[in-house]
Amino acid sequence: MALNATGRASQPGGLSHAKPRVLFGVTGGIAAYKAVTAVRRLRQWGADVTVVPTRSALQMVGKTTWEAISGNQVRVEVWEDAADVVHVNTGASADLFVVAPATANTIAKFAHGLADNLLTNSALVATCPRLIAPAMHTQMWEHPATVANIELLTKHGWELIGPEVGQLTGADSGAGRMSEPEVIADRAIEILETQGYRSQYVGEPTGKTWVISAGGTHEAIDPVRYIANHSTGIMGVELANAALRAGHRVKLVGANISEQVRDTCLSGIEFVNVVSASDVYEQMDRLAASADVVIMAAAISDFRVASSATKIKRGRGLDLTFEENPDILHDLATNRRKNAQCVVGFAAETGDETHTYLEYGQQKAQRKGADLLVVNQVGNSAGFGDVDTTVSVVTGAGEIIKEYSGTKSQVATGIVSVIDQWCTNA
Ligand code: CTP
Repeated sequence: MALNATGRASQPGGLSHAKPRVLFGVTGGIAAYKAVTAVRRLRQWGADVTVVPTRSALQMVGKTTWEAISGNQVRVEVWEDAADVVHVNTGASADLFVVAPATANTIAKFAHGLADNLLTNSALVATCPRLIAPAMHTQMWEHPATVANIELLTKHGWELIGPEVGQLTGADSGAGRMSEPEVIADRAIEILETQGYRSQYVGEPTGKTWVISAGGTHEAIDPVRYIANHSTGIMGVELANAALRAGHRVKLVGANISEQVRDTCLSGIEFVNVVSASDVYEQMDRLAASADVVIMAAAISDFRVASSATKIKRGRGLDLTFEENPDILHDLATNRRKNAQCVVGFAAETGDETHTYLEYGQQKAQRKGADLLVVNQVGNSAGFGDVDTTVSVVTGAGEIIKEYSGTKSQVATGIVSVIDQWCTNA
């Protein structure tokens, strides 16, 4: 796992901690009361939020509110808990720095590198993405000093959100109104998601159990060699996360999923580690007995090798005998292990000169006997790993009912919702 000196994750998927740390700066604008909503939303999503108000911010909303709403201790000055070196650690350990509302005064301090409280000190230390939501009267916002300071902040890498044109503190209105707290929180979440973080939110329990296979099987040739495929298991893990967030109980049968990918599983998912197609079959057969939804997202080798118990030596030629593995999806779909069970398959297709990848997917849907088949296009490298994807969801009769594009996490959320709808209506 690649970490930078501060222990923050330095690449998507390589996260040192499941809950991203958000440093939420609040300055002395009336919109501070709205920032409470943004902090709450980020916390509900699953972020570990530390609020750092300025002294003026506390005139608007008190320390007790910030501590209660964030669940973390609130400090304002650098000499509080000096033994913890808070003026460095607070900013350095953050995965995202948000300031909302940001007054003209604090913006000026950030722009010129002044550091006279914990928030402005942290701004000089933080190397994470920084998002700033200004809020002030129109005259202050349009003053050349503020305009120049904002230019400097943008140059220093701050991302600006708002301000909007609208009603200000009094009866007046104009440019300078802070963006709505939901908009600020949603943008913050988007930034965290591009870093590889996922919502830790778990919905109301549905009482349903979903069993999902993911990853790619290894078929032994001898004790040191095996036949594998390119599947990383990311899609299956994202499906498991999305199903958990939808409130389902989730059991994930993972074939050879790397530790890095496995670490992105939300806590609460029951993980069963397997290696070969036979292992997947054994575990899926066992777990399907109590499942309401069964998803075969794993890339299963259609063949296994009549493997050698000892290492095959060079110089004696190589003559491998292949035996066919069972079609697990077909078996689970045609011999349902539980009443009213929904069975879903995946198909990674390339298409050729006679048929498109989608036509092959539709044919496969009809052949497999599953309720739904999720079809995606793969190429030499397309479709594998931490990349965006496009899928079509096809019914057992071959009818396309949905298409989704985006990150695997976004697509997984869509697939889970279509399964939820389809399987309830079926
Ligand atoms: N599958 C399975 N058992 C197998 C092979 C595949 O359960 N032995 C499942 C996969 O998990 C997936 C679906 O079947 O949900 C389609 O997998 P794919 O490899 O595309 O299908 P195959 O039947 O092997 O068809 P092809 O001839 O295209 O390889």
